[in-house]
Amino acid sequence: MNPSAVDELTLGDYLPRFESFHAQVANGLMRRPKMLPAKFLYDKTGSELFERICGLREYYPTRTEMGILSRYAGELADLCGPQCMLIELGSGSSTKTRMLLDRLCEPAAYVPVDISREQLIEAAASLCGDYGPLEIIPVCADYTDGLRTPATRRAARKTIVFFPGSTIGNFEPDEAMRFLRGYAHGGGCDAMIVGVDLRKPRSVLEPAYNDAAGVTAAFNLNLLRRINRELGADFALGRFYHRAIYNEHAGRIEMHLVSRTEQAVRLGRTRIMFEPGEPITTEHSYKYTLAGFANLAVCAGFEVGRVWTDPRQWFSVFYLKR
Ligand SMILES: C[S@@+](CC[C@H](N)C(=O)[O-])C[C@H]1O[C@@H](n2cnc3c(N)ncnc32)[C@H](O)[C@@H]1O
Repeated sequence: MNPSAVDELTLGDYLPRFESFHAQVANGLMRRPKMLPAKFLYDKTGSELFERICGLREYYPTRTEMGILSRYAGELADLCGPQCMLIELGSGSSTKTRMLLDRLCEPAAYVPVDISREQLIEAAASLCGDYGPLEIIPVCADYTDGLRTPATRRAARKTIVFFPGSTIGNFEPDEAMRFLRGYAHGGGCDAMIVGVDLRKPRSVLEPAYNDAAGVTAAFNLNLLRRINRELGADFALGRFYHRAIYNEHAGRIEMHLVSRTEQAVRLGRTRIMFEPGEPITTEHSYKYTLAGFANLAVCAGFEVGRVWTDPRQWFSVFYLKR
């Protein structure tokens, strides 16, 4: 990372506080079935592990979405038009963004939004070095708390919200609808570009989330390590294992941390009991049909402008107009 590029960045910092993390973890572990929000998987280590997942042979989504974006970036850029502001939700390493930035005509600003602060700053600094005069305004926030559009030096003709990585699939469908509706009816968005993973055979889906090298397992278990470190819990990591299964009826991958034994875990003054085989759900990743997601977007108040897919129809990119 270039340290002088970091100095030039102004970070909008709205990272949720300790109390909020603690309350959400405590609530999630007290309920039945136990469930923790997927956003907490992404601390510094979680983001690094996710980057490794993106390069795994079994993990088709990143490769496939990048293939679509590289093929259709010109068309996307034409739809965005000149001098747009690009806001990216869950920007991670901003790798895919480069494909758009390379083709956009004089973009007014790029606003990466992510809950993972270190990775956000690193990615923004690296883009600063490579995209010279482009104004880059990183915002560290939970995007479910609502978007605060920052003031930019240059006026933008359009605001485009980019939401790749099939992160929309981490919402329950009714939440996804409410989330999209906020952009369809709010003032700060002219169009959205959304990466959506599609339904496919279990034989492809389950290995993607159960890789042979165990990187996804490490990513999932890192959540317990984070809770121990940041909230003073005493999870024994060896007493839990990672599992990912495709729930075909619901059309989603379910990622679990399963208790190997009957055990008690301390979180502050609270004791949380586990039965042998009891899971904590750490992520749902919904897989849509093209028609299903189009319907959701229309019900949320968008018009489907364009949809691109790969030849196997494993992944899709939607351009949604207000
Ligand atoms: C599945 S990864 C996708 C990363 C990248 N956009 C890509 O396509 O490879 C999800 C990203 O969203 C971020 N994220 C997840 N939930 C979030 C939330 N509620 N608010 C802000 N960022 C979030 C994570 O930190 C992570 O960088």
